[in-house]
Amino acid sequence: MDKKTRGLYIKSGSILSSALKLAQKNVKEGTSLLSLCERIESFIVEEGGKPAFPVNVSINHIAAHFTPSFDSKDAFSATDVAKIDIGVHIDGCITDSAVTIDLSGEAGKMLEASQGALEAALSAAKPGTGIGKLGETIEKEIKKRGFKPIQNLSGHGIEEWVAHASPSIPNTFSKDGRKLEPGRVYAIEPFATNGEGMVHEGVQAEIFGFDEKRPLRSQTGRKISELVEKEYRSLPFAERWLVKKMKMSEFERKTALRELLQKKSIHAYPVLRELEGKTVTQAETTILVEDKDITVLVK
Ligand code: CO
Repeated sequence: MDKKTRGLYIKSGSILSSALKLAQKNVKEGTSLLSLCERIESFIVEEGGKPAFPVNVSINHIAAHFTPSFDSKDAFSATDVAKIDIGVHIDGCITDSAVTIDLSGEAGKMLEASQGALEAALSAAKPGTGIGKLGETIEKEIKKRGFKPIQNLSGHGIEEWVAHASPSIPNTFSKDGRKLEPGRVYAIEPFATNGEGMVHEGVQAEIFGFDEKRPLRSQTGRKISELVEKEYRSLPFAERWLVKKMKMSEFERKTALRELLQKKSIHAYPVLRELEGKTVTQAETTILVEDKDITVLVK
């Protein structure tokens, strides 16, 4: 990786660290989810970055991929265990990190499990460390605290303009023989639960990603496709972002999104829920693997 690109990753990570602190300060009973997400997303822009994906606010049994709709009135409640997952990029240099905030006061041990697993994985991570070894470390740390890792959610490689690249970094033991490679960026993200340890897709989706241009009937669809290809490329975007960027009725927007999905011009990221409806915690950071060691980009 050249020096300039490395500098962009460092800056991206430092903006993300501050964004997470802003989240820590503002996630309270009564704070609206929408105002929190918008505040964090505009903070990222003020600091010279861009959101690499919509701020995810996944509460209790929701593990990932939730972001409020443009007209959401939802607010945090005193019983919430909230995972705030944030992505920042500068010219496509992406960092990805998450914290869990326990308003309920009852998930402390589970929080320690995901956090402890992340710390152990970071200690184990060196250039050449096996991907399977990281999964094994994460699984062991979570299980020894009496919880289960989520088997079908994983960390991932990051490439320029690609938030989720290969390899997947499993949260359980795996025989994957691939190794952490110098010059590459990875997100490590253990999830712990007191449930089954699996997530499934819900029907609701507020987050989408662009795949390719297709012939479309709807004019709004063509406009959306042009906008997202230019602004976000293949990075995930929120329906609520479109509401801010374009003039269109709700009917036009919904019809256009349906056609874009049908024609496979975009794909949806459905909300992911824990199979048994049990609580989930998450810890995540992004690392840059260097020649001799790793640099943790989001501290
Ligand atoms: Co991630």
